Amino acid sequence: IRERKRKEGVNLLELAASYFRERLKMPEAQVAREYLSNRGLSSEVLADFGIGYAPDGWEGLKRHLAERGIPESVQVEYGLLVHREESGRTYDRFRDRVMFPIRDVRGRTIAFGGRVLGDAKPKYLNSPETPVFHKGRELYGLYEARQANARLERLLIVEGYMDVVALAQFGIRNAVATLGTATSEEHLARLFRVVDEVVFCFDGDRAGRQAAARALETVLPLMIDGRQARFLFLPEGEDPDSLVRREGCEAFTDRITCASPLSEFLFDQAARGRDLARIEDRERYASQVLGVIGKLPEGVLRTLLLGELSRRTGVDESRFTALMDRAEPKTT
Ligand code: UTP
Ligand code: MN
Ligand code: MN
Ligand code: MN
Ligand code: MN
Repeated sequence: IRERKRKEGVNLLELAASYFRERLKMPEAQVAREYLSNRGLSSEVLADFGIGYAPDGWEGLKRHLAERGIPESVQVEYGLLVHREESGRTYDRFRDRVMFPIRDVRGRTIAFGGRVLGDAKPKYLNSPETPVFHKGRELYGLYEARQANARLERLLIVEGYMDVVALAQFGIRNAVATLGTATSEEHLARLFRVVDEVVFCFDGDRAGRQAAARALETVLPLMIDGRQARFLFLPEGEDPDSLVRREGCEAFTDRITCASPLSEFLFDQAARGRDLARIEDRERYASQVLGVIGKLPEGVLRTLLLGELSRRTGVDESRFTALMDRAEPKTT
């Protein structure tokens, strides 16, 4: 029954995706097409990502699906229709928005993100949780990245739909985005099944820097078997979409090449705002770094980082090891 349910949902969502793609070609989508072309997207990239348009109006999709025998209750269940309790009425969730299908690893559409053409709020509307869509688990662009690359060396983790698509437009076809949520351990575990290296590349703003700090915490327990995590910081006010359009592919690729390894980010972050000539600052610095190292699985990386901390603070490594053992009694 579970599997039948999944198929039912996926068929319905595929129908919706092709409906949105068809609408984008219609006269009514003129403004949407201009919007996408102003953002620098070619029809080839639009096709690769299956981008479409949800027309204005309350029941275009609802009627389209009803004609194909799909009950309203099912449309509601998969997040395409909104059901108003008070009035008992149903209407299309996505109206007058550019539509990004979110696909699972096999390329089946499982949800949508829809962007307004102007400045209205919310900027992006996403499908709700449904039987086939769990927001905290999925990554936008992973299917497309695997399609575009016979062999993937690394994946870039960015914030937004447009970042993924704009990078692809410039030939950087290995970016994925979480769907407006923080990067979870589940996201990362999923990516490390595909590649050994992830590069975090969040927006060049306060929120983006905070996201990077949180991503560091999240990735620590997964740092085994020579896996790599690196951090790419963008200039203030830029996101990958705006920057790649301004600088082009080569400059952006250079930035990826130069992204800070986890170790560098870790020490830099702990040193920020501190004067390491002062003992008190050095104490906080060492405690912060130790706290991070303690979350790493036992292994070469952990050992190397302890050695480095010892060199940087002039404290014998065995002292740190003793402190760490006391700080976190082994749990099973
Ligand atoms: P941003 O605000 O950075 O948007 O949100 P963006 O991706 O740069 O969008 P553009 O360039 O203005 O089109 C990053 C991501 O957070 C989620 C979306 O996944 C978005 O891509 N988000 C943001 C939402 O889900 N809803 C919102 O209202 C805003
Ligand atoms: Mn799922
Ligand atoms: Mn942002
Ligand atoms: Mn952004
Ligand atoms: Mn943007």
